Amino acid sequence: IEFVLFLEVLLLMFNLFFISKVLRKKHLKDVHLQQVSVRRFASFNLFSIEDQNTEEETGTWVQYRSIFYPKYSVSLRFHNGLLNVKDVLTSFDNTGNVCLWPSEEVLAYYCLKHNEIFRDLAVCELGGGMTCLAGLMVAISADVKEVLLTDGNEKAIKNVNEIITRNQNAGVFKAQKVSSCILRWDNETDVSQLEGHFDIVMCADCLFLDQYRASLVDAIKRLLQPSGKAMVFAPLRGNTLNQFCNLAEKAGFSIQRHENYDEHISNFHSKLKNEEKDTYEENLHYPFLLILTKQR
Ligand SMILES: C[S@@+](CC[C@H](N)C(=O)[O-])C[C@H]1O[C@@H](n2cnc3c(N)ncnc32)[C@H](O)[C@@H]1O
Repeated sequence: IEFVLFLEVLLLMFNLFFISKVLRKKHLKDVHLQQVSVRRFASFNLFSIEDQNTEEETGTWVQYRSIFYPKYSVSLRFHNGLLNVKDVLTSFDNTGNVCLWPSEEVLAYYCLKHNEIFRDLAVCELGGGMTCLAGLMVAISADVKEVLLTDGNEKAIKNVNEIITRNQNAGVFKAQKVSSCILRWDNETDVSQLEGHFDIVMCADCLFLDQYRASLVDAIKRLLQPSGKAMVFAPLRGNTLNQFCNLAEKAGFSIQRHENYDEHISNFHSKLKNEEKDTYEENLHYPFLLILTKQR
């Protein structure tokens, strides 16, 4: 009996090993699907995702390549699967850990397209989530002085640190300095130690959090040097973009608001509106571009 039991346990272990292998393989292929299922529509077709066949316990590495500027690509690590209970209970905001949002891809594409504007400048991305894709695109394509990738979420920044190390080892950065840190817009120390340091501050899809909108405006204002500019991409998400603009104007920014800033994105937006009525919601998915300039 003991021998039969032993054989059964052995068989069970073999099955578990086999199933976990199959699931892991499948997971790698599902990174794209996972992204899509969270944000509900595929994308504006700006980046392709290639498997790197590197799987880890908690993350999956992929190569994110610009479709319009294919010589630019970075290794990104996405968190595997759903968030665990500890993450949800102990972090203040996990929206940057669940997927890479369309506005971030649009900001990244826009940075590649206009990479000459970053020459010799110090650039900071705020609320960049688990990848900070846009800041990375600046770092690989522009003759930029310095790129600081930030988010208020610890788990997101741990991931970004690993992404920086891997891309640094691959020698893809053009920027003289690329680093990352936790930066909470509502944390006095985080903001004051970088006060007036940046020529460009940028962020994507960060305007919807009612309790942090005012501190985001304040952080942008304080982080920028006097002639600095902020580049903000975000969907309307109800009245949240307007509320941000009102606060920014009150804080002394002049704002240029662009709905049509790129031909491909405008055309793709029209196509999605017509052909993907069930999944594409302009209010949630179409990013506007705001350029903020300090006036006083
Ligand atoms: C919707 S996510 C956008 C992430 C990324 N930009 C993207 O579009 O994929 C909003 C991000 O803002 C960050 N965030 C929210 N409140 C913040 C705060 N007070 N300080 C710093 N980051 C904050 C979150 O951690 C999250 O990564």
